[in-house]
Amino acid sequence: MERIKINGKTKLVGEVNIAGAKNSAVALIPATILVKGISIIDNIPDISDLKGYYEILEELGATVEILGDNKVKIDTSNVNSNVALSGNVKAFRASYYLLGILFSMFNSATVGMPGGCNIGKRPIDQHIKGFEQLGAKVEYTNDYVKIEADKIIGTTIDFDVVSVGATINVMLGAVKAEGTTILNNCAKEPHIVDVANFLNEIGAKITGAGTDTIIIEGVDTFKNYVEYSVVPDQIEAGTYMIAAVATKGDILVKNCVPEDMEFLINELVKMGATVEIDNNNIRVVGNENIVSSNIETSPHPGFATDLQSQMGALFAITNGTSTITENIWESRFGYCYELEKMGAKVTIDNTVATFDGVDTLVGTEVKATDLRAGASLIIAGCVANGVTTITNLHHIDRGYEKIEEKFRNLGAQIERENYND
Ligand code: EPU
Repeated sequence: MERIKINGKTKLVGEVNIAGAKNSAVALIPATILVKGISIIDNIPDISDLKGYYEILEELGATVEILGDNKVKIDTSNVNSNVALSGNVKAFRASYYLLGILFSMFNSATVGMPGGCNIGKRPIDQHIKGFEQLGAKVEYTNDYVKIEADKIIGTTIDFDVVSVGATINVMLGAVKAEGTTILNNCAKEPHIVDVANFLNEIGAKITGAGTDTIIIEGVDTFKNYVEYSVVPDQIEAGTYMIAAVATKGDILVKNCVPEDMEFLINELVKMGATVEIDNNNIRVVGNENIVSSNIETSPHPGFATDLQSQMGALFAITNGTSTITENIWESRFGYCYELEKMGAKVTIDNTVATFDGVDTLVGTEVKATDLRAGASLIIAGCVANGVTTITNLHHIDRGYEKIEEKFRNLGAQIERENYND
């Protein structure tokens, strides 16, 4: 087993390069099936969720060639199966995009129920509703979902909740529909725009991605060759921005999209940090006089739920009382109990976590309860007095590329080591 060991009390100073977006790549990689030819995808993050996806594509008949840490060549010419039920499918959440893609390709798809972080109920009723309205009959068990249609027919679909996954999945399911599909009440995250851009690049006709309404004119065929570069990861960028403030450091976050980070920039500036933007780079400088704050998560462009755990590490050592209201996932405060082991003072009441800032945290043994919880604990470990050890690294590896290397380059004393359980 592996664990991360951090010797804390370090100001993080330096530059960090942001990888491509996990939550975009996990849709783009399977969407290469629509190409039925060669896709060269660049700026992909080197994370374990994608390795699982490459294996799934190979199980379906594709060949996958890694061209470097961040580049992959996928040949989907021989993908002839519309059934994806392997252990890989069940291991992570975003395998549900196979439903939309295989449905588009074959008018029928059978896909295992997805896994992923345990952060609350994760229904897919809005995905199913969308497919049904596109003409699919749906068979839905605890183990798999099967959707099938004689013909996929464009229509207007009003989502009842704003969902990243449903927006992308139903968009994927509608790219070849007969006629026009209008999706209302869509999620607007940058990765949704990125997936729509990729689909348009291969020949789809999608407008409105990044707004509440997405319009998809169905097309029959797609290009057989594409080169595409994944948008930078908003959440990885935000993680290092928060780490700069929490450690009173000075980090230049390179290769990100500052417009996508406005909710966080505004928050960090309000708390007293200095933030400078220069093209695709954001410099964040912390100081001794950071003040407490209150945040509330909501879909983009609101405060991203995927950054609230990292903010929790900052609030834990910020003078005064801060609160986080989590409106997306009901079980996303697992990391707070780990922070408490490090001396944080947190009370949780349903969807609200209240942090009474302490002067410093103390290193101890903690576990990553989910992906973003892991990032929060690494930040806490850099702040804390003494040694912090973090276990359950598989969560962190699902979504953060070379995380110890990137923190080490910023001055953190951080190592990954083997241990016997
Ligand atoms: N929801 C429904 N029905 C649905 C779909 C969602 O009620 O059919 C609800 C969910 O229960 C939740 C809310 O809608 O309360 C939003 O869920 P959404 O569908 O947007 O989440 P997701 O697509 O499952 C993606 C990211 C998550 C991120 C959320 C919100 C991927 C693979 N995952 O999940 O990322 O938290 O959007 O932005 O894109 C992470 O990266 O750490 C992570 C958990």
